[in-house]
Amino acid sequence: MNSEDLFKKAIKLFPGGVNSPVRFYEPYPLYFSRASGSRIFDADGNEYLDFSMGFGANFAGYGNAEILSETMEYMGNPVPEGVPTRGEIILGEMVKEAVPSVEMMRFVNSGTEATMHAIRLARGYTGRKLILKMAGGFHGAHDYALVDAGSGVMTFGVPASKGIPEETAKTVIVGQYNNVENIEEIFKKYGKDIAAVITEPVMGNMGVIPPSPGFLQFLREITERYGSLLIFDEVITGFRFHYGAYQDLIKVHPDITTMGKILGGGMPVGLFGGSEEIMKNISPAGGIYQSGTFSANPFTVASGIATLKFLKKSNYESTIELARWIEEKLSPYKDLGVRVNRVYNMFTVFFNEKDVVDYSTARSSDVKKFFQFFRNLLKNGIYLSPGQFEASFIGMAHTPEEIEMAAFKMAYALEYDMNVGGDKNQ
Ligand SMILES: Cc1ncc(COP(=O)(O)O)c(C=O)c1O
Repeated sequence: MNSEDLFKKAIKLFPGGVNSPVRFYEPYPLYFSRASGSRIFDADGNEYLDFSMGFGANFAGYGNAEILSETMEYMGNPVPEGVPTRGEIILGEMVKEAVPSVEMMRFVNSGTEATMHAIRLARGYTGRKLILKMAGGFHGAHDYALVDAGSGVMTFGVPASKGIPEETAKTVIVGQYNNVENIEEIFKKYGKDIAAVITEPVMGNMGVIPPSPGFLQFLREITERYGSLLIFDEVITGFRFHYGAYQDLIKVHPDITTMGKILGGGMPVGLFGGSEEIMKNISPAGGIYQSGTFSANPFTVASGIATLKFLKKSNYESTIELARWIEEKLSPYKDLGVRVNRVYNMFTVFFNEKDVVDYSTARSSDVKKFFQFFRNLLKNGIYLSPGQFEASFIGMAHTPEEIEMAAFKMAYALEYDMNVGGDKNQ
């Protein structure tokens, strides 16, 4: 059955035909039946070089033999779900060693769960109600995170979805990433009621946007000044750029860290953690409730241990170098309205005349042109993350030959097929 036929069935089973909205694109999403290394294979008999890698969940490569065999060994010796296990201690110690600000943690099942509990923890710990998130930042699909900026520069949030009570959205203030003045203004007005600032340290969900110099340091300073907590949502960036979290590369340490994706090696995972002083307020040690049948479930833990073992001895540098190649190959198209934002080994190709440095410049990108590019690359065997506001990723399985060819195809698509910026000979 090909993708079109599968979608016809899916549309009767799942709203919009998919199990998560970002998986849909016109006219129907491709269905994938197999993955190996950096390659994914669709139900229509096509093979693609994958730059989405499970929206960043897979870093070691699909079916990595070492990870698979170690995970299977655990799976062959099942332990019960919903009870404490030795594995969770091994994985917990590995995380603590790699991310020193995470002295204590809780494993959960997704990034959404991780940020939801991190927010409750921050509120419970500080006794304050307000959360400051960044416009365009994404922290999962729960009520506290699915809040947009209202009109006006400094604003309480408005629900980004039907079904979220206005009262809930009003407990979230939406600020501007990379805008010190805006955050300072918000703190001046509401600082003593702000429980926490939550942000992706490197924006990945409005496309890749790096922090401007000093911005994260400023967030650390202002949260300390007002007695608020700082939450770094490292669901994407955890274990992505080096064996640890982004916070240690820039030496800005949050009070609470959330992680997910790579940590589970392809199994559903999330984690929130921080200092012992904060984390010991979680039930049953303290009065802030959090629980989950599948938290630290043995399969995820097994896969997480195997993945971290593999990543610890892996060469991250090569993935960063390959991402640099793409950036360099596409840089001549800047004058034609193409901007490549790269942070280490993740990147977004923006269709924009301006540099993309914040939410408003990101939103001014040409989404139609992005999908033209996306489709063109699909025809040429390349699968980018399917959205202008998504990040694409280079992992351990991508080879220099693959990236050289992909960079060439991307440049070719821009130069000849899309004719970005119009016909130069006219
Ligand atoms: C930064 C960030 N936080 C949280 C989430 C939510 O994670 P999950 O999809 O595992 O619930 C995502 C998902 O893409 C994310 O990118």
